Amino acid sequence: MFQIVHKQQLNDEVYRMDFAAPFIARKARAGQFVIFRVDEKGERIPLTIADYDREKGTVAVIFQAVGRSTMLLAQKQEGESIADLVGPLGNPTPLENAKKVAVIGGGVGCAIAYPVAKELHEAGVHVDMIAGFRSKNIIILEEEMKQASDRLFVTTDDGTYGEKGLVTQVLQRLLEEGNEYDAVFAVGPVVMMKFVCATTKPYNVRTIVSLNPIMIDGTGMCGGCRVTVGGQIKFACVDGPDFDGHQVDFDELMKRNNTYQEQEAQERSHTCRLFGGAE
Ligand code: NAD
Ligand code: FES
Repeated sequence: MFQIVHKQQLNDEVYRMDFAAPFIARKARAGQFVIFRVDEKGERIPLTIADYDREKGTVAVIFQAVGRSTMLLAQKQEGESIADLVGPLGNPTPLENAKKVAVIGGGVGCAIAYPVAKELHEAGVHVDMIAGFRSKNIIILEEEMKQASDRLFVTTDDGTYGEKGLVTQVLQRLLEEGNEYDAVFAVGPVVMMKFVCATTKPYNVRTIVSLNPIMIDGTGMCGGCRVTVGGQIKFACVDGPDFDGHQVDFDELMKRNNTYQEQEAQERSHTCRLFGGAE
């Protein structure tokens, strides 16, 4: 059992939870993920590690309560426990030797972009961070991202905070201004990562994306997390989750991620009726 030692609601749907998990905390690196099960009959859900504290032996995840299991997790309180937390899984974000990096987070993806920016910033890398949200009321981690970067650019689609527009607009401007990045790291909606890659391609900037395909075992056995990168089949759980974005087949990933949309919606409404819902 893994105890929740801290719970914080970041916006209407997004939560941070810190778990007592000393063995995971000891080895965790930015970019890696864990798989949790709320109880013995629960489904296995991957979540990228948002933070860790090796001394306290805790690991944090930030998640949006949108599916059945994340809704059940959101209903757990500090002091309660979940059945399983397995990790750290996957490979750390491969950004060694970079001196200047743009880190881009879209919505909840900022929860993953933040630890990457933090690890780079602490290592002395110049970090320009671009964080995009639909609207002001769902902004998360602004102060943390400010601390983890040299410059933070916040955008909102509706212009209610920061610059009006999408993350790609700011990235385009920074590239046009002559900022020479050794790498760009992007995590968020698949369509955002696709257009970040389209923006960096003409500048020939190495672009790493963190992929979130459907996962089951997280150990390379089931094939659920299959993605096509550079024309080759890769498993995001063991070969990734980070890949060279210019090689990723994003259209295929979008199609595969939508496979169970109908069933997920049914599960969600079932969960809401049972528990009074985090809708
Ligand atoms: P969202 O749809 O609100 O988008 C966030 C931001 O992304 C927007 O504000 C915009 O700046 C940018 N964006 C969106 N569409 C774009 C486009 N076509 N071109 C350029 N920029 C665009 O995001 P959300 O609802 O918070 O969802 C976050 C997404 O991140 C989810 O799809 C989730 O699956 C994904 N995610 C991925 C991981 C991972 O490990 N890879 C982890 C957490 C979340
Ligand atoms: Fe099963 Fe990756 S989740 S192979």
